[in-house]
Amino acid sequence: MSPATALGCLLACLLLVAGCGDNQDDAGARALLQKIRADGYTTWDRAPGYEERRPTNAPHSEAVDIYVNDRVAEVLALGEPTTSWPVGSIIAKDGFDGSKLEIIAVMEKRADGWYWAEYDDDGDPDYSGRPETCTDCHRSGSDYVLAFGLP
Ligand code: HEC
Repeated sequence: MSPATALGCLLACLLLVAGCGDNQDDAGARALLQKIRADGYTTWDRAPGYEERRPTNAPHSEAVDIYVNDRVAEVLALGEPTTSWPVGSIIAKDGFDGSKLEIIAVMEKRADGWYWAEYDDDGDPDYSGRPETCTDCHRSGSDYVLAFGLP
């Protein structure tokens, strides 16, 4: 292989990897998925308006299930007006194409703000940390949450 061809291949590979997402914190994202799976997140309360799987316009899937952890469920049940979701809030979204799980997207409220992660169907992170892709689109939400509002 000529050096030019080799360089071309290398660049193509790099582009391929970069095109897969913005995985800023692979280990942290894996730990987060492990934590919510251990907690059986698909048995959590469903988000308001998502009592069953719904079609979506959001990227990477056709229909979604959205689950909220106890922290979010408490705020919703209390119904006291508030301007932000508390630290410890977790929202998880399973995205499907037909009946096949395509992505898992998670946001967790931490002391320094929302932590974001999106995984492929094998649970491998494609995005994690604070990818601008996620924050730019979610900025218009209720404290970054798009599917439902703050009380
Ligand atoms: C182009 C806009 C867009 C981008 C980019 C986007 N989302 Fe979303 N996201 C949505 C919409 C719209 C919803 C509302 C539910 C639905 O229709 O799927 C949503 C819902 C969610 C939810 C459920 C909680 C909520 O806010 O409603 C999570 C978790 C989530 N997205 C994570 C992510 C992550 C992680 C990324 C970055 C990898 C990301 N999103 C990128 C549009 C976007």
